[in-house]
Parts: sequence; structure tokens; C-alpha cells
Amino acid sequence: MTADGSGTGRVGADPTSAHPAWLPPEAFRAIGSGRTLVCGDGMLVATVRDEVARACARYGGTVGHLPGGAAGPERTGDSDSDGNSDSDSDGRYDLVFALGTTGLLPAGAALAAEVGRGLGPDRGGLGPEGFALARRDGVTAVLADQPAGLLYGLFHVVRLGPAAFGADRPVERHRPAMRLRLVSHWDNVDVHPVMGQVERGYAGGSIFWCDGAPRRDPDRVRDYARLLAACGMNAMTVNNVNVYGTATRLLTDRLDDVAAIADLVRPYGIRVHLSVNFAAPVTLGELPTADPLDGDVRAWWTRAAGRLYETIPDFGGFMVKADSEGQPGPYRYGRTHADGANMLADALAPYGGVVHWRAFVYNHRQDWRDRSTDRARAAYDHFTPLDGRFRDNVIVQVKHGPMDFQTREPVSPVLAAMPGTRLAVEVQATQEYTGQQRHVCYLGPCWSEVLRFAPWGPGRPTVASVAAGTAGDDGGVAASGGGGLVVVSNVGDDHYWTGHPLAQANLYAVGRLAWAPDLDPLAVLDEWIDLTFTPSATADPDLLRGTLHALLDDSWRGYERYTAPLGVGFMVAPGHHYGPDVDGYEYSRWGTYHFADRDGVGVDRTRATGTGFTGQYPQPWADRYESLETCPDELLLFFHHVPYQHVLHSGSTVIQHIYDTHFAGVEQVAEMVRRWERIGPAGLLDPALHARVTDRLAEQLRCAEEWRDKVNTYFLRKSGVPDAHGRRIH
Ligand code: GCU
Repeated sequence: MTADGSGTGRVGADPTSAHPAWLPPEAFRAIGSGRTLVCGDGMLVATVRDEVARACARYGGTVGHLPGGAAGPERTGDSDSDGNSDSDSDGRYDLVFALGTTGLLPAGAALAAEVGRGLGPDRGGLGPEGFALARRDGVTAVLADQPAGLLYGLFHVVRLGPAAFGADRPVERHRPAMRLRLVSHWDNVDVHPVMGQVERGYAGGSIFWCDGAPRRDPDRVRDYARLLAACGMNAMTVNNVNVYGTATRLLTDRLDDVAAIADLVRPYGIRVHLSVNFAAPVTLGELPTADPLDGDVRAWWTRAAGRLYETIPDFGGFMVKADSEGQPGPYRYGRTHADGANMLADALAPYGGVVHWRAFVYNHRQDWRDRSTDRARAAYDHFTPLDGRFRDNVIVQVKHGPMDFQTREPVSPVLAAMPGTRLAVEVQATQEYTGQQRHVCYLGPCWSEVLRFAPWGPGRPTVASVAAGTAGDDGGVAASGGGGLVVVSNVGDDHYWTGHPLAQANLYAVGRLAWAPDLDPLAVLDEWIDLTFTPSATADPDLLRGTLHALLDDSWRGYERYTAPLGVGFMVAPGHHYGPDVDGYEYSRWGTYHFADRDGVGVDRTRATGTGFTGQYPQPWADRYESLETCPDELLLFFHHVPYQHVLHSGSTVIQHIYDTHFAGVEQVAEMVRRWERIGPAGLLDPALHARVTDRLAEQLRCAEEWRDKVNTYFLRKSGVPDAHGRRIH
């Protein structure tokens, strides 16, 4: 045993190096105070053991280890291979983690054996990452078929806290809805002259890279992997989707840098993926072409994949942004996205790797005078003709909305239109368009709406089931299942990981929703609050909980209130995308318009008179969005151009709605500020964390007022319609 009692050395990091987020030592008190037995072998089982041992070292409990599992040696007694058998001398354990078929367990772990038998021959379909949990007669048992299941089971017990050791619990089975749950880092290896070290990063530098070199902060990376595992993620890309300069060479002579990260995150079940540049065979100076049908190019990628897997045997695969916003792709050679993706897929297939091929493809050099081009249509137009032509190890990665992570967008119709293709849903935790981690904006409710959306109507499969590969006839199931969920990371080298401490909740929530899309996002918030601000360590947990809920629950809709109205989107300052600029993109090449004039506002995307985008949806949404009568208010201006006096379902006119929501949104932020101030003197929180949030709230209020005044003034001047309540508009 090592000094920290972990047996195999330290996992996780010195808690002073970065904020512990949702894994403070307190969260392990219940586990660390009891007697635990861990049965099984392998790296992830060792991680479970080490986690428990570390908690025991702090809180006085004990951990025993029984090697083997299904194939392990028969053990009948209570002795402990780690030698600390005194803890369980009465043959009892409070908590048992068991891998594989049981029946070989010591007497104190009888429940585990019983649950194992009860699961039946298919083990209740636990799969490679699932686990079963039960509690009876003072023993809590966690069983899994594979080591990863025990790891997720451990973090489930951590979430339950003391409740894991309270009343009896009948057998529960847990397994992730999505097989692939990937965090996409937009971290640059070199510092980009405009985008910096992390593209759209609002939390400091990269935890992986610094100025062209690896950052070499193993504790930070290990801690990060631990946080990801604890919320349910299992994969990450380590570099930006825009791949240039040194990042291109991560695939070749800088591969060891990637391998070093893979080594650090592997003990937490996280696989590393790499964003690659489609033109790498050319940009690395080796070939005259990157044509995906060229034999030399294919051989180049095959060799690259071979080297990769020699160095990183569990490498996950490639992520590719091709023919998008200036990135190279197969179009340059007259080839399709399927040609490009399949070439890479073929190179990875022998090793089980996947290609995440992004569907974010549109014309970013549009002429604003051209009313026939609609950016919202682009992904569908480019990709749906290719349905069924992608290899099984290609995942087409679709942004959740048809535009670009706006505060409110309809769900992308591509998600309902490629039944023969594995699809992943891509969401953005980094708050590019939602306040850049200076504003509180809890995105759990937004993502939950997306995942629960039923493109074929109520009672039919949801977006979550498309991404999980279980949508059946409606959504199709490609042979090898769905593509899962991808989230653009909001993490940096900031002490709080996410700049705004409350933005940690977004990263936590996305993992939980990828695992279980049906979870109530506010219940997820409760989990996050309890883990992060452990009730037993908080003077007035109810006051703290109430305040955090008051700030976070409705913050996404609050942000929506004071920014672009009714789903029309953008209206942000060009380039950095922070703060209001109503006409900032109106005459630009990016295809993001609101078409406000003196009579009305909104984009006509109907089939009858507009761009025809509504026709990309299956019924009932194709008709529901098409008709003014049935189009939901919150998306009205996304689908329709209407007069300012158009009456919404809410009974308000469009113009009055704009005024009202902008005043209400600012009032909401002012109330958040007051609530937060109130808990300052109560000493419920680390003063530094309280101060950080206080500063950010001040900026949020300032910025919300600017949004309110600019948007309201703009529309008053355009429409000439006064506010019905006579409030001050400039
Ligand atoms: C947005 C964002 C870019 C990013 C792009 C993408 O447009 O502003 O910085 O590169 O999305 O998703 O590829």
C-alpha cells in the first residue's frame, strides 16, 4: 500500500490544483466511511479500488480486493488480497463491487452473488458499460459485466451519497442510452492569431496545449478525465476541428503528444480521438493530392492509421470538418462527403476506429442580396442524398439546429432524414452564443428539449433514439447503432475549469443527458448541486440550493428573453459573437439574416412563399412549421416573416412581445444578482467562488441591459409602434 492508502498510487490530483467541481472529497464521505470490497481485475477496476481507497484514507473506512471475477479464483473466506482484512473481520461489507459472474464471493458479499444470479444469463443486458445496483440487509452491491460498468457504478454510488447506504433498494439496472459520448475540444495546438489557444474558449488556456507544445500538466488532464467519467462521458477529441499548423502533425510526428494524453485519461475509460485535416497528405508535403479515391492518398491514410494504433491501441478515431468554413474536403476533387469519410473509415476499420464527419457544411460566402440561398437548408441538401452510402464506422455529426448553436433553433431536419446512416447530435457547452461563460445560462433544458423532440410527432421516436441508434423504422438503425452525442467543451485552464463556476453545471448535465436523455434537467441540476456543494458540508444547504436553482433553472430562457427574439437568432456582434449588434450580420456573407424592415421581421422559410426549408421536416412538423396558426411562438421568426402587429398564441403582438421579454429578461438578471448577493454574508460558499460569480453577474446585468436597449430601440425605430406600457425605450 502506498502512503495515501490507494494500493497502486495516486489517481486524481491534489485537490488544491484546480477546483474539484463535482468531485470534492466530501462527495466520497459515505463510501470512504464504510467497508468496501472490490472484486475483479483490470485497469478500470483498479481505478475503482484506488478511488475507494483514497476516500477510505480520508474518512477511515476500509477497502478489500478480491482479484478475478468471472474467471477469478474461488474465494470463500473474507480475507483480503491487499492485506487489510481487519476492516472486514466480521465478514461484512457495506459496499461490494463485483465484476463478471459471481458465486465465488465471500459470505459478506452474498447480495452481490444473488443479484448476479438474478440478472439471468444475459445479465439483464448490462452491456459493456452498464451496471446493476441493489441494497439489502445493510449491503449495497454493484455488479457489472465489464470494468467500465464498475467505474460508472462507483460514480453512481457517489451521486447517491448517504442514500446508497440507507433503505433497501431493489435491483436497478443502468446502462447508457448512447454508446459514444464525446467531448470535442476546440483547443488549438498553436495559438491562433484571432481565436487564441482555444477557439471559442471562455475559460482560459487549453488544458492540453500551450503555444505549439503539450502543456504537460498531467494532474489537470487526469482530473478532467475523472470528472468526465463521473458525469458519464467516454471519449474526447484533443484538438480543434479547424486543424492547421502544428495540429496537423499530431497525426504523424507529434503522435506521442496524443499518446501521452491517452495514457492519462485511459484509467477513467476515456478514449482519445483526433481532429484531422482532410488535406494532411498534401499539407504535410508528401503528396500532390488529397483525392479520397487516389490510391496513394488511401495508402497514406492507411499508414497513418497503422502508426496511430501501434502507438495508441485504443485510439477512438477521427473527427473531420471538411468543405466547411474554408477547411479542405473532398469537393476540391469532385468527390462527395461519403467518398471522403469512407476513405478515412476504411483506414480505421481494421482497428475498430470511427470517423466523426461533421455535417456543418454551408456556403459562408453568400451574397446577402440572394434571397434564394438559405443557410438553414444546407446540411440537409448536402448530406441526405448520401444516406446509406457511408460505412458503418462513419458517424455523421449534426449540429442540433440547422444554423449554429443559437439560443433557440428548431431541431435540425437532418436528424430525421438519414435512416441509413449513424448520426450523432452535436451540442455546444462552450457558450459561444449564450453568454460566453460571463452569463449564467444553464443549457440542460435546451439539450433536453432537443433530445426529447419527436421529429415524426408525439409518441414516435425521439432525437435521442436516433442518436442512440434505437429509432427503429422511423429513424432507421444503421447496422452498428447510432452515433451518440458530441459536446463542444467549455473547459480551460481556469481554476474553476469553466470560467464561470456555474457553467460547470453544463458539462455535468451533458454527460448525464447523454447517458440518460430522459432525465429531468432540473433533477440533474440537483445532482450537480449536491455533489459540488455537498449538503453535509454546507451551513444552510436549502438556502444554497434554492439560490442556485433560482439562478440556473430558467437561465437559458432568461437569456433568450433579452437577446434575439422568437427564434430569429444571431443579432450578435460579428467575429467574437458577444453582446448585441442587431444588424451585425444582416448584410454579411454568413447567411444569417433577420430581414427586419418597417413592416415586420423574420425569415420566410415556408414552402408556399419562402425558401422551402419547412419541407425538409417529416410530418407533422413540415405542416406545423409551415402554418402561422400552428408554428410555435418561440420559433415564429425562424420560419416566418410577419408584421409587427402579428398576434402570437400568447395573445401578445410580436412587437409587444419583443419589448416585454426584453424588460423581463433584464429584470430576471437583476433578481439573480439580488439573490446571489443575499447569500454572500451567509458564508455558504468559498468567498472566492462567490466573488467570481458576483463579478460575472454584474457583467451579465450590464450586457443584458445593453441587449434590451439596443433591441428595443431598434424595433421601436423600425416599427414606430410604442410600448403599450410606456416604458423607457431610447
Ligand atoms: C461556429 C464557430 C466557429 C466554429 C464553427 C464550427 O461557426 O463560430 O468558431 O469553427 O462553428 O462548428 O466548426
